[in-house]
Amino acid sequence: MKILVTGGAGYIGSHVTKYLLDKGYKVSVLDNLSNGRREFVDKRAKFHKGDLANKDDIKKALKSCQAAMHFAASASVPDSVKNPGEYFVNNVSNGLNLLEVMWELGVNYLIFSSSAGVYGNPIRVPIKEDDPKIPTHPYGLSKLMFEEILEWYNRAYDLKSISLRYFCAAGADPRGGIGEDHRPETHLIPVVLDVALGRRDHVEVFGGDFDTPDGTGVRDFVHVMDIAESHAVALKHLLEEKQSEIFNVGIGKGYSVLEVIKAAEEVTGKKIKFKKVGRRPGDPDKLVADVGKIRSALGWEAKNKDLKDMIEDAWEWHKSYFQK
Ligand SMILES: NC(=O)c1ccc[n+]([C@@H]2O[C@H](COP(=O)([O-])OP(=O)(O)OC[C@H]3O[C@@H](n4cnc5c(N)ncnc54)[C@H](O)[C@@H]3O)[C@@H](O)[C@H]2O)c1
Repeated sequence: MKILVTGGAGYIGSHVTKYLLDKGYKVSVLDNLSNGRREFVDKRAKFHKGDLANKDDIKKALKSCQAAMHFAASASVPDSVKNPGEYFVNNVSNGLNLLEVMWELGVNYLIFSSSAGVYGNPIRVPIKEDDPKIPTHPYGLSKLMFEEILEWYNRAYDLKSISLRYFCAAGADPRGGIGEDHRPETHLIPVVLDVALGRRDHVEVFGGDFDTPDGTGVRDFVHVMDIAESHAVALKHLLEEKQSEIFNVGIGKGYSVLEVIKAAEEVTGKKIKFKKVGRRPGDPDKLVADVGKIRSALGWEAKNKDLKDMIEDAWEWHKSYFQK
C-alpha cells in the first residue's frame, strides 16, 4: 500500500515516513521544504518537492496512493498570532487543495495532524475529545476549522479521516539521523537543548503565574516514535472501520516548564540558564490529554512515558546535528 505523506521532510512527518517504510508501506512525500530538511526524508521514500498551494504538485505526489497523512502546515503558535493570514491560507485553504485532489483521484482515507491547540483554555485536565473547543490563537483555530471541513467531506464525499490531536511532540528516533529542527525554534525541549549546547544563552520561560504547582505552564509531552506508531494504528483502524474519528495523542501526564529544564539538566549534565518573562498570548495553564478514547478504540497507548528518556533521545540527535 502506498501512502502520501505531506510535510514528510518536517519533524514528525519524517519520523512517520521512516516508521511506515519500516512497516512495509510505500511512501510518497510532498514537501515544499519551507521548514523541512531534504536530508530528513528517508531514501526509500519517493520525494516530491512541491507545494500544497499547487494542485498539480499534489496530483503528482498522490498518484497511485491509497491514503494520505497530512502533516504539512504552518505550525508556530506565536507566529500565528502575528501572521494569522498565513495560517488560514496554508492550514485551511492549501489543505483544501489536498482534499479536492483526493476526491478527484478517488483517494478516500486521510490521517490529519491536528493539535491540542483546538481546545484553547481547557475547562478541565485531562482533556477529553468532546470538551469545549475555543482556540485562543489562529493556529489552533486553523486546525479546528480543518477538522470541521473534514466532517463535511465525510458526509458529502465519503472521505474518511482520523484527526489526531497531538499534544507536544518530543524526542527523536533513537537510531539517529532525524530530529526536531524548526526555524525559528519555539518548542521548549529543543530550545532548552540549544542552551545546553551553548547555541543560546538562556531559555525564556513565558509566565510564572500560571495556575500550576510551580507557576509555569504544564504540557503533555509524547515521544515522536509513539506518535509515528499511532499513525500506523489509526490508518489500519480507518481502513477496517471506514469511519471518521478524532483522538487525542498524548501520554496523559503533564510536566511543567521548570520540570523540563531540570530533567534536561540531569540528562545533559549542563546548567541551563532561564529567565522568566511575560506570558505569551493564548497560552493555557495546563494541556494534558485524556487518552482513554484512543486506548479503548484503537488499543494504542504511548510506550515511552518517561520525560528524561524523551529528552535523552532528543539530546543525542541535537548534539550530533548541531555540534558539527
Ligand atoms: N510538533 C508538535 O509538537 C505538534 C503538536 C501538535 C500538532 N502538530 C502538527 O503536526 C504537523 C507536523 O508538525 P512538525 O512539528 O513536524 O512541523 P514541521 O514544520 O517540522 O513540519 C511541517 C512540514 O510541512 C512542510 N510544509 C509546510 N507548508 C507546506 C506546503 N504548503 N506545501 C508543502 N509542504 C509544506 C514544511 O516544509 C515542513 O517540512 C503539523 O501539522 C503541526 O501543526 C505538531
